[in-house]
Amino acid sequence: MKIIQVKDYEELCQKAAQILLQRVKDNRRLRLGLATGGTPVGVYRNMVQDHLDHGTSYREIQTFNLDEYLGLAPDHPQSYHAYMEEHLFRWVDLQPNKTHIPDGKAADPEAECRRYEEMIQQQGGIDLQLLGIGVNGHIGFNEPGTPFDSTTRVVQLAESTRRANARFFSEQEEVPTHAITMGIGTIMKSREILLLASGTSKAPVMRSMLQQEVSEQLPASVLKRHPRAQVIADQDALSLVE
Ligand code: F6R
Repeated sequence: MKIIQVKDYEELCQKAAQILLQRVKDNRRLRLGLATGGTPVGVYRNMVQDHLDHGTSYREIQTFNLDEYLGLAPDHPQSYHAYMEEHLFRWVDLQPNKTHIPDGKAADPEAECRRYEEMIQQQGGIDLQLLGIGVNGHIGFNEPGTPFDSTTRVVQLAESTRRANARFFSEQEEVPTHAITMGIGTIMKSREILLLASGTSKAPVMRSMLQQEVSEQLPASVLKRHPRAQVIADQDALSLVE
């Protein structure tokens, strides 16, 4: 696993966007896995700015988001559908029928998970998956203890995840208790993975991920087994690594 250390969040966003843009330019039909949360916001901002300045086109690109809250409709302001619209989709020329996010309001969530997993594989799999990391080491919403061969499914969110995400809602009770997420097996099938970590809140988990053995108790540690995984982390996130 390659570690790219950068100075701060701004540099992290520039570096990540640079890698993503290079892949988009190299392959106009790239299948790109996307993440939400606080960390990728600046990466998407850089991509939007590049689209405005240089016209990089996304017309043939397909995107696959990692996860969505169960019970939130696409137009709910805290849904990941709304997040993607706000931070990326509405600003670039991605085609709506080529952007994929699990449906948190599906009448049959289990069937929706099967559909999503099959659809990714039918489209040829993900070329590059962008990831953040939870303070407990989750990737997607795969909380500690998730089997490494898991696929897209309904999961219960850890209390620490609900607390961390409460900042996006008016109160913690509003944070959904469940989500649909790609599994760790789904993520590991991606041809390339780029994990981003910024800030001191991620320092303990980054130390564990980099210094401990691969373990299902620390989902992100599985990336050490991926042949093409890179981590971009800033100085704060790496401040506890010896
Ligand atoms: C988001 C996701 C999560 C986040 C993680 C870090 O789609 O799947 O795993 O990447 O919770 O979130 P932030 O970036 O807000 O610290």
